[in-house]
Amino acid sequence: MTEQSPALDNLLTESRTFPPSDEFAGQANAKADLYAEADADREAFWAKQAERLTWDTKWTTVLDWTNAPFAKWFVGGKLNVAYNCVDRHVESGHGDQVAIHWVGEPGDTRDITYAQLKTEVSKAANALASLGVTAGDVVALQLQMVPEAIFAMLACARIGALHNVVFGGFSPTALRARVDDAAAKVVITSDGQFRRGKAAPMKANVDEALEGAETVEKVIVVKRTGDQLEGDVPWTDGRDLWWHELVDGQSEEHTPEAFDSEHPLFILYTSGTTGKPKGILHTSGGYLTQTAYTHHNVFDHKAGEDVYWCTADIGWITGHSYIVYGPLANRVTQVVYEGTPNTPHEGRHWEIIQKYKVSIYYTAPTLIRTFMKWGAEIPEKYDLSTLRVLGSVGEPINPEAWIWYRENIGAGRTPIVDTWWQTETGAIMISPLPGVTSAKPGSAQKALPGVSAKVVDDQGTEVGPGGGGYLVLDKPWPSMLRGIWGDEERFRDTYWSRFKDQGFYFAGDGAKYDNDGDVWLLGRVDDVMNVSGHRISTTEVESALVSHPTVAEAAVVGATDPTTGQGIVAFVILRGNAVDGGEEAIQALRNHVAKEIGPIAKPRQIMVVPELPKTRSGKIMRRLLRDVAENRQVGDVTTLADSSVMDLISSGLKSGK
Ligand code: WTA
Repeated sequence: MTEQSPALDNLLTESRTFPPSDEFAGQANAKADLYAEADADREAFWAKQAERLTWDTKWTTVLDWTNAPFAKWFVGGKLNVAYNCVDRHVESGHGDQVAIHWVGEPGDTRDITYAQLKTEVSKAANALASLGVTAGDVVALQLQMVPEAIFAMLACARIGALHNVVFGGFSPTALRARVDDAAAKVVITSDGQFRRGKAAPMKANVDEALEGAETVEKVIVVKRTGDQLEGDVPWTDGRDLWWHELVDGQSEEHTPEAFDSEHPLFILYTSGTTGKPKGILHTSGGYLTQTAYTHHNVFDHKAGEDVYWCTADIGWITGHSYIVYGPLANRVTQVVYEGTPNTPHEGRHWEIIQKYKVSIYYTAPTLIRTFMKWGAEIPEKYDLSTLRVLGSVGEPINPEAWIWYRENIGAGRTPIVDTWWQTETGAIMISPLPGVTSAKPGSAQKALPGVSAKVVDDQGTEVGPGGGGYLVLDKPWPSMLRGIWGDEERFRDTYWSRFKDQGFYFAGDGAKYDNDGDVWLLGRVDDVMNVSGHRISTTEVESALVSHPTVAEAAVVGATDPTTGQGIVAFVILRGNAVDGGEEAIQALRNHVAKEIGPIAKPRQIMVVPELPKTRSGKIMRRLLRDVAENRQVGDVTTLADSSVMDLISSGLKSGK
């Protein structure tokens, strides 16, 4: 059934366990009885979790699943998400608490209290309203990690507009597709961004993206790089506005309106198995309930005591759920860092942890492996003794990286929470509880209280201990996606058709149970790659490649990569008149993909081949190409239309073509 690499199989032989210390367990937010409480009455459990929020009107029904797979949670309830993340903390007397310790890449910093956050969000909400943005409108954002990104997201939430955040590294083409699909009315960006010590343009790319974009009325530009950016910032009079000119003069008062629990909160695009990205839709009450609940229990967060740092970018779901919504709803004090981890030196993260006394640190395996490569002597130079919980997200964490993380960052003492979830699930679904679970390096272990996950076989029957299959979620959860923007059919098809009879949500991941019944994630079983924790579809990269005039056909696979988890390897057939498959041509193709999608999608390797392996029905057999990409003996070729193709490919490669 699921194809997985030998490296992942090795994971399953890992047998060390790390129970929490008595001291940690004693003070933990979540105790073992949380599981039993949730099992006894799931809806009552979630209703209790929803009490974490401040509701203007209480719900009448916890869950309405009559129109499955479209869930409604906390039906009849009304709340304002931004009020919950900001105002209520000021009202409860915590206006002076720092919400955000912001650290710019060049070293400039800003501490923003909850009172200041309220002012900034209110002004931004008034600014958007002054442009005619109202509830239900879509505002697209392409912004690096500056405070204005968070102000803007919360300002949207405050007035009931949906934000559509597009990762800063995405190309103009990718941005445009996301702006058009969501019919964004306003776009918010910056003049430029600091990357590895240099100022790089942002607005210029946005302008390229928006040429002829019909729905966009205004573009708001945050001044970040200013004079340090070479050349002028391109400007369209009447459309473009500086953030500071628009926002600074606005009133600091803004009365938040209560919206329905199911009012849309945001759209976030993610890669699917076809080339067209999917606009994942999340709504208000259920999403905020589950992000707050998980942030509290999985990270053991204590408001007013902990200093939390999630290193994700707001361009991804982790930034939405675990920088903006969950943490702020829980009155976090958090670090937000603008730059890359090695600017200006490889100890930057540890320096920040030392300076702000960070106690909870949440990052991705790809970064942990990078830190390993840089060497343990780097973190050793800093005082990391304030850390008490470490988290991981984005891909399976290999036991070596887990142990390194625990030993070198967590002083062999801190619990590590390996959190499995997706853009679609909105919040963490499978994870250890740090004060309860005996952690196993490499395993996300168990569905959280209130969440139900199973590993099933092809038929949808749950497999036994030691068995492998597909990961499904068999019961609705509050922060589940409410659809794919504008495409009901695709929503049903993508997630609900594989196990239609059982009504399971199919996550797209392969998984196994070990003999204790703990879940081990084994990577995607569809054509989605996971590169440095970023989802990229093989089809998307293939489409980009064949859009280049020299390429006749392309097949793309994700090959195991020691640092990035998977690396993109492309096999291309060049057009008859483009016989030159030399270094320069390959480089041009790599750059072309970066231009079409973004630098994150640049293939690690492109191999020029005379043929591609196909089945009789014309389906490309990626499994065989993965064997080549991972330097393995090529597997079973009997289903190929022409079994000699693999010889042709292999011999072509050996001769260095
Ligand atoms: C993978 C990121 C193993 C998985 C929050 C999933 C993981 C996809 C883990 C979602 C983990 C995420 N262990 N695999 N702890 N966390 N994944 O939508 O394949 O960017 O389906 O959401 O990442 O990626 P997405």
